[in-house]
Amino acid sequence: MSSPQAPKLDMDKLNAFIGQFVSDLGAAVHTGMVVIGERLGLYKALAKGPMTSAELAAATQTDERYLREWLASQAAGGYITFDAAANKFSLNEEQAFTLAQEDSPAYLPGAFELALGSLAAVPRIADSFRSGAGMGWHEHDDGVFHGCEKFFRPGYAANLVSSWIPALHDVQQKLEAGARVADVGCGKGASTILMAKAFPKSHFFGFDYHDKSIEAARETAQREGIADRVTFEVSKAKEFPGKDYDFVAVFDCLHDMGDPVGAAKHVRQSMAKDGTWMIVEPFANDQLKDNLNPVGRVYYSFSTLLCTPCSRSQEVGLCLGAQAGESRVREVVTAAGFSRFRRATETPFNIVYEARP
Ligand SMILES: C[S@@+](CC[C@H](N)C(=O)[O-])C[C@H]1O[C@@H](n2cnc3c(N)ncnc32)[C@H](O)[C@@H]1O
Repeated sequence: MSSPQAPKLDMDKLNAFIGQFVSDLGAAVHTGMVVIGERLGLYKALAKGPMTSAELAAATQTDERYLREWLASQAAGGYITFDAAANKFSLNEEQAFTLAQEDSPAYLPGAFELALGSLAAVPRIADSFRSGAGMGWHEHDDGVFHGCEKFFRPGYAANLVSSWIPALHDVQQKLEAGARVADVGCGKGASTILMAKAFPKSHFFGFDYHDKSIEAARETAQREGIADRVTFEVSKAKEFPGKDYDFVAVFDCLHDMGDPVGAAKHVRQSMAKDGTWMIVEPFANDQLKDNLNPVGRVYYSFSTLLCTPCSRSQEVGLCLGAQAGESRVREVVTAAGFSRFRRATETPFNIVYEARP
């Protein structure tokens, strides 16, 4: 009897892959560490200057033993800096910029809150692989809604008013003069509120089918003192009320919709004749082989847990996925009767398309 042959392994490749696994496993559990750090104000406290674990515990009213373990995990992961001679922990400029400054364009903790919230759906989504059932956005853990807003808002703050809107034909002038604007699938209204602050003569209508997100958006508009020019309403993308919008925007949600073509047709009917539709989607190339990179990995994973199940839960269930790419978005837009479509601009994380009737 011959014994089964041992596989011929390339030890260099095996070791490299195991090295990647250790980094990935650390990153996976690190998700919870970042959420804890943000929730308890640990990064913000550390940004004030170097501290021992006891000093940080006193400053944040936390248990020193737990904190020491957390600090060690953070220092091992490069998220905070450890000075062994002084036995103190601190944040360098870059760590503080990304972990402690909520208004920084690269504020990172929201991404981890989104990841942790999404992972709560894993048991149900694993079942969906067999049943094909969908899962609506509204059915997710609260961390998904909070994390999504916290993750996306800095990118919108850095790009929307300063570069995305100026890249569109004639839109900035209309918004400055006073326009009617719809932000469809607005979630908790981060983009709507940013635009309303920048263009005080325009009126903004934010729509989303998720009632809890709309409630939160209304509260933010009140708190920010702009409720007079921003109206948030619960509505599906195929049904939102109003006509003659000069500008309609969708941020990172066209691919989440079950019937994006139906939504696009409704957008077209709701727009003024010379109106503009801005479609912001995750950055993606048309071919899978060109998306096999770290950004693609992030988006395909979120898409498996959030975007594809959301689309599957709605009528038609087209399931574009978060890496749809320009060609598929163009097909949706032109199927709805828009005659002009172009990529207006892009960042490493987003593509901004412009569609006109
Ligand atoms: C990834 S989130 C983006 C939220 C927001 N636009 C932002 O950028 O922060 C996707 C949003 O699309 C909304 N959505 C999904 N399907 C929808 C539909 N058919 N009509 C209206 N909103 C929808 C969800 O409720 C969710 O708020």
